[in-house]
Amino acid sequence: MSIQVIPDTKPSHSLDADDLLPECLHDFLACPTPNAWLTWALENPEILLIDHAQCEKKAASTAMSLLYRYVDQPLLLSKMSQLAREELLHFEQVVNLMERRGVAYRHLTASRYAEGLRRHLRPQDPERLIDILIIGALIEARSCERFARLIPYLDEELARFYRTLVKSEGRHFEDYLLLARQQTDQLIDERIAFFVACEAELITSPDSAFRFHSGVPA
Ligand SMILES: [Fe+2]
Ligand SMILES: [Fe+2]
Repeated sequence: MSIQVIPDTKPSHSLDADDLLPECLHDFLACPTPNAWLTWALENPEILLIDHAQCEKKAASTAMSLLYRYVDQPLLLSKMSQLAREELLHFEQVVNLMERRGVAYRHLTASRYAEGLRRHLRPQDPERLIDILIIGALIEARSCERFARLIPYLDEELARFYRTLVKSEGRHFEDYLLLARQQTDQLIDERIAFFVACEAELITSPDSAFRFHSGVPA
């Protein structure tokens, strides 16, 4: 496996994560990924790829479930069907990359992250859908931020792949946020702020196992 594990030295590329990340994402997330997670990721290159594959598959399936449930929303249907296709393509790309690198795909337990956010879902629509869409935006935003943080430390092939993902996950973030705001005439900024704070807590607090969306080592 050829991820370069050099967390204590200078990045292998002369790129700064901040240069890669869209401005709106900086403003949206409450905190950057802690350096301790970055070091943890570079120490676990295989789990990083396997869990990344899992996340892409999960992202496609979340989008698919919205397609089934909200058939009366044309914009949601078109955005989510496009998103599901893109996430499945990403899944395929990660799995191919794993194969080339001899990383065996195996089952991993899910991280606490998505469930830690979803447990705050309100029970009735439209509130429930608004929450699901806000959480979708957050997961896309964090994924995008983590890809950008990792890129300077990765080998050329993986860095190139992750640069394409920064672009598409950044677009997914905007789509989810647009759809969330479109569900109501009221402002949803307070609800967004609530989830942004929950997310930052999950990202900065000690976690038991390394995953793509885990907190920091316990
Ligand atoms: Fe993706
Ligand atoms: Fe995405």
